[in-house]
Amino acid sequence: MYTLLKLLIVSTVFFALSAMLTGCGEKSEENIPAEKLTASAVISEISSGHGHNVEIPFTDITPTPTADLFQYRSSDNTGHSHVIALSKQQMIDLNNGMRLTVISSAPSSGAAHTHIWNLFGGNVLYDKNCYNCHTNDKRGQDQNRMQATLRPLSVASQISAIISPESAPPSTTADVTPDPAFTPPAFLMDGPTLYSNYCSGCHGSLTSSTKFNKSFALIKDAITNNTGGMASLGALTDAQLEAIATVLIK
Ligand code: HEC
Ligand code: HEC
Repeated sequence: MYTLLKLLIVSTVFFALSAMLTGCGEKSEENIPAEKLTASAVISEISSGHGHNVEIPFTDITPTPTADLFQYRSSDNTGHSHVIALSKQQMIDLNNGMRLTVISSAPSSGAAHTHIWNLFGGNVLYDKNCYNCHTNDKRGQDQNRMQATLRPLSVASQISAIISPESAPPSTTADVTPDPAFTPPAFLMDGPTLYSNYCSGCHGSLTSSTKFNKSFALIKDAITNNTGGMASLGALTDAQLEAIATVLIK
């Protein structure tokens, strides 16, 4: 009994000490992920004993989506996959932080069934705007507690959706039917190549850029305002600028 108590005290002291050492409220963020995310992984409900996950690229999650229809093929599980579809308006709703429920296509093979995906705009926005600096540490937290120059978002519904993804309003936009034969395009937005083609000449290579941690909005503003002659980059799409902003996160 006594040894148990001693163990308890020792471990409590140890935890208190390590909390002090790692520091609460330190001013630099050191929990940078080993691998940066470029997509938000959304997982289906488990039905028929298995689930699937779908990756929504950050470049698709914008206030001005570039397509009318977004389709994603899920991961394989038990030998089959499914497709989910979002309309342009549903993508806008998701980007505004709303909740949305979509039902998948039939499986690519095997016994007929579908899955339900409950998408939370708040989680997707956290993945896109916060994860690459904080991993999962600041989920549910208010970006406004962070110094103003680092805050990635200015839309109130997005900020509150990150704080509480489940209490965000549900989307009321009509569903679209996924195409069970949908094949994902091979083309993926290549941030490092875009950066080296369009930015490195003036701002240094990607490993030593003078523009680390510049948000999509700041880059877009610099182009719109012709800062340093950057109006010449006006042909880059929002999706390309998002891909560049993602690789500039350090
Ligand atoms: C470019 C990197 C970067 C991004 C992106 C970023 N943060 Fe931060 N965040 C930091 C740094 C660095 C600090 C520590 C300095 C400070 O407090 O301002 C911090 C601090 C914070 C804090 C205060 C921590 C504390 O306990 O004092 C919160 C809360 C926070 N971030 C939330 C968020 C949320 C939510 C997002 C996404 C909307 C986000 N951050 C995006 C770098 C980032
Ligand atoms: C022709 C040279 C040139 C190219 C190409 C260029 N920039 Fe710039 N950029 C400048 C100059 C000059 C400034 C103003 C001085 C400064 O802030 O470095 C600037 C300013 C900026 C700013 C605003 C100031 C700040 O730091 O917030 C951002 C953001 C930025 N550039 C990012 C980029 C990105 C990303 C690319 C590639 C898509 C790019 N630039 C391509 C020359 C260029």
